[in-house]
Formats: sequence, C-alpha cells, structure tokens
Amino acid sequence: MSHSSELAATARSLVTAGRGILAIDESNKTCNARFAALHIAETEDARRAYRELLLTTPGLGAWVSGAILYDETLRQSTADDVPFVRAMNDAGILPGIKVDTGTVPLAGSPGELITEGLDGLPKRLEEYRILGARFTKWRAVIAISELTPTPRALRANAQSLARYAKAAQTAGLVPIVEPEVLADGTHDMERCATVTRAALKHVFEALDAEDVDLAGIILKPNMVTPGLRSSHRASVAEVAEATLEALLANVPANVGGIAFLSGGLDDVLSTQHLQAMNAAALERPWPLTFSYGRALQQAALHAWRGSPREVPRAQAILAHRAACNAAAARGQYDQAVEDRPIFATA
Ligand code: 13P
Repeated sequence: MSHSSELAATARSLVTAGRGILAIDESNKTCNARFAALHIAETEDARRAYRELLLTTPGLGAWVSGAILYDETLRQSTADDVPFVRAMNDAGILPGIKVDTGTVPLAGSPGELITEGLDGLPKRLEEYRILGARFTKWRAVIAISELTPTPRALRANAQSLARYAKAAQTAGLVPIVEPEVLADGTHDMERCATVTRAALKHVFEALDAEDVDLAGIILKPNMVTPGLRSSHRASVAEVAEATLEALLANVPANVGGIAFLSGGLDDVLSTQHLQAMNAAALERPWPLTFSYGRALQQAALHAWRGSPREVPRAQAILAHRAACNAAAARGQYDQAVEDRPIFATA
C-alpha cells in the first residue's frame, strides 16, 4: 500500500464502523490535578494503574477504535508486564500519541496561546512509530473573549497545526488536527459559531498551503455551543444544527473523518449531541464520531478513586459510556440505550 493510502486507511478505521477514540493523553500535570481533586496519589504508578484500568476494560475494542496516550503511558505496561501497546493491539485498539508539548502565551497577544512542540518533532515521531503509535494528536486552543481571538492568533495556531500534520504524515502517522475553541466564557452560541468557522477556515487554508493529504487526517473540532458561563442555553437540536453548518461550510469533503472533543461538556449531553448530528437529515460527506476525554472518563475516574476494589465497577462504567457513544456514532442512541443496566454492557 502506498504511504498515502495507508494513512487514509488508518484514518478511516479510526472513525468508521460506529467506533470512536478514547482520549487519555492528559499530561502528568493535568492527570495529577484530576487525581488530587479526588485524593488519589499523584504518582507514576497511580497514573499507570488508572490507564491500565481504562485500556484493559473488557470489550472496549467493540466501541473504541483507538486511544490517544501521553508519552509516559506509551512506554508503560500492565501490572503483569504486558506493554500497553501490545494489550491495545490485542484488544483491537490502535495506539495514538499526543505530540504537542502544551501551550505558552502568544507574544504580543494578551490572553492568547500558541501550542509548542515543533522543535525536534520529526525525531520524536520516528521514535513513536517504532514504539507502536499509528496516529498522533496536536491541540491548539482558541479562547473567546471580547477581544479574542485575533486573526493573528488564529493564523499562528493554524500554521503550527499544519506543520505538525505534514510532519506526522511524513513519518507515516495519521495526524488528529484539533483546533479547540474553548467553551469557557459567557459568549452566546452565535459567537461560538463565528469563531469556530473562522478557526476552521484558517486551519484548512494552512493545511492546503502545507500540502497535507486531507484523506489521511482526522479533524477533532469542538461543537458549537453557548459558553459554559453563558446565560444562554441551546437545545441538543440547536447545537447539532449549528455545528453541522459550521463544518459543512468549512471542512472539505475529502477529510478522512471528524471526531469531536467534549470540552468539559456533561457526558450524557456529549452523547446526545453526537447522536443528533448523526441522525440529522443534512447530508454530510465524512463520518462523525467521538474523541472524548472527560466525557468518557469522568464517571469511571470517580468510581475508581484509586481503589483496586473498584476497578471492575469503573471499567463497567467506562464500557457503558463507550457503548452509548458508539451507538450515537451510528445514530442509534436513545434513552433505552442510556438506561441499560451498567453491568449488562460489558
Ligand atoms: P475532552 O473531551 O475532555 O475535551 O478532551 C479531549 C481532548 O483530547 C482534549 O485535547
């Protein structure tokens, strides 16, 4: 298979057949902060045990096509010394890796961030491929306020995303391109729609300029919603419609697939939004699925709380959420699926 058809095949396998992506690529700092809030030890072994719990959930491969890991996790093994990469491959879950190194303030643009990680990237990609990664992720963040985003920040972040995507494809790895318009803020849905459209427009212009093969990428966008601190509310149908409109206007038809982030939205609501988009009458050229972090993990993490005794319950809860989202990716999720007894799912 040629390089480009191999990339396209990998991208497609991540987003089709009613499966989606489990994002567990929190940096050690972010993972520790979530542990600290629940009084879980902030240690390498606790992070390892937690990721083992998630990745070895019985049946997970039926709903999850790939999992995005953090550098530390890609190198870890189960308590029985099975490398996570092997356990994932055995479960039918492709290993992915976050390759950006986080955000720093964008000079000259108060309140705006730029994502770093381009320095030395080709070398790291080469190593990740040898370690077993098949796809990668880079997240740009775009904050909405009265003064932001500026066109300059949108351009700078789009350029970094495009340079990363080109480097990943050159290394034979599928890039997940994530321009996240943050849900934080008091803005209404219309403002989120305007900013999301502008961010997507910049990203696809930059990808084109870098000659990135669109069939071999996955776009990971936010949904179009009112800000989390907004007094405005939007129905599930309104979110689905506004999100589809923004995507249809700006995402070329040959993009390999779209896998949404959850962005701090409630987990059940995240599933309902995905279901509404997949059930919409509007014709769309790409598969739409999930690449959720918090919306998949939150309930399982709360059930586990660092206790080995709670592993089966936490795994059953993750399996249930993953099954609900996989149903939504096929447009077959409803209250009856949500209400299935948790232990009956796995
Ligand atoms: P959330 O679904 O929690 O937003 O995480 C997805 C992700 O990968 C953010 O980069």
